[in-house]
Amino acid sequence: MRDNPIVQTVLALETSCDESAVAIARSEADQFSLIASLVASQVEEHAKWGGVVPEIASRRHLESLPFLVGDALNDAGIKMDEIDVIAATVAPGLSGALMVGSVTGRTLASLFGLPYLGIHHLEAHLASVHLANSAPKFPYIVLLVSGGHTELINVQSPTKFIRLGRSHDDAAGEAFDKVARLLGMTYPGGPAIQQAAKKGNPGKFSLPKCKVSKPGGGFYPYDFSFSGLKTAVLREVESIQKQGEEIPFKDLAASFEKAVVDVLVDRSIKCVLDHRVETLVMVGGVAANDRLRRVMNQKAAQDGIEVHMAPKAFCTDNAAMVAAAALLRLKSGVSSSSIELGVSARLPLDQAGELYKSIPPF
Ligand code: KG4
Ligand code: ZN
Repeated sequence: MRDNPIVQTVLALETSCDESAVAIARSEADQFSLIASLVASQVEEHAKWGGVVPEIASRRHLESLPFLVGDALNDAGIKMDEIDVIAATVAPGLSGALMVGSVTGRTLASLFGLPYLGIHHLEAHLASVHLANSAPKFPYIVLLVSGGHTELINVQSPTKFIRLGRSHDDAAGEAFDKVARLLGMTYPGGPAIQQAAKKGNPGKFSLPKCKVSKPGGGFYPYDFSFSGLKTAVLREVESIQKQGEEIPFKDLAASFEKAVVDVLVDRSIKCVLDHRVETLVMVGGVAANDRLRRVMNQKAAQDGIEVHMAPKAFCTDNAAMVAAAALLRLKSGVSSSSIELGVSARLPLDQAGELYKSIPPF
């Protein structure tokens, strides 16, 4: 499509954690279309160890990525000479895993003489809502709930983000994973807990909805803490075991899921109302949770809040959201990152603009 400058086709790579993913998307005027999206999950491999093993993740990315790039081009029915831009997730995430996407992306960009864009993983999650049929209008509040992050963010434009709340300990997804593990369920814990919870009684156990205290008194209204909840589930399990009774896995899963969902929904809605915005957006792996989607829709409707969610298929890590973030960056006037840009395990979202400086931050 290089003979038509209004049309831009991006090939995007995602390797920040345990999913190797490649997508191809095209933007034409304001129209965005996804023409290929492939994810090679490593979940089964990591499940044996009860969580992500960084070394295994890097090796699997290395093995899958070249084939995924070829398969994505085949699916899209195009050749490399029709790609205009290469994008890859470069921060935050597992360093070794990120490096595989970064070096693949920069090699393709150099070989084919294309601009290269490094993408912030959380910016990609935020962009995943633009893969839904109707996109929200700025400004809006985003609840970003994944395995690594639980944040409330005021998104004022495609590239202006102000964090309003965060977890002080475990992310919500991490809590799902840890509680699933202590209940003897498989990794990743979110889908396993959701499945068990559907047959359990969410009112059976009363679990804490932890708040974060301010040093001078009171609580941070938009912050989260999930480690106390995880400990409360452990205490219930220990006390039932002491009595020699069978662990009611389904009821514990349902009660835990309800506690997480209630906290996420209540704080998100308060945040939207306090900031007088009209729209709430939900993205990230935990946003795939059925109870969370249902309760968020119900409660937001009661307060007249418009809700937009990433499609379920694009909640957990994928490259379609990386492509969407890249196209939004290009639309905002960015032309490329430095080809010397490396990777960073930690880069706050509000510093994502650094990725497009001529002298790269890392
Ligand atoms: O966004 P993601 O794929 O990776 C990160 O960037 O962290 O999120 C993965 C997290 C895992 O903790 C997983 O247990 C959780 O999302 N998750 C869910 C569900 N599906 C995935 N949590 C609750 N319910 C689900 N259905
Ligand atoms: Zn993610």
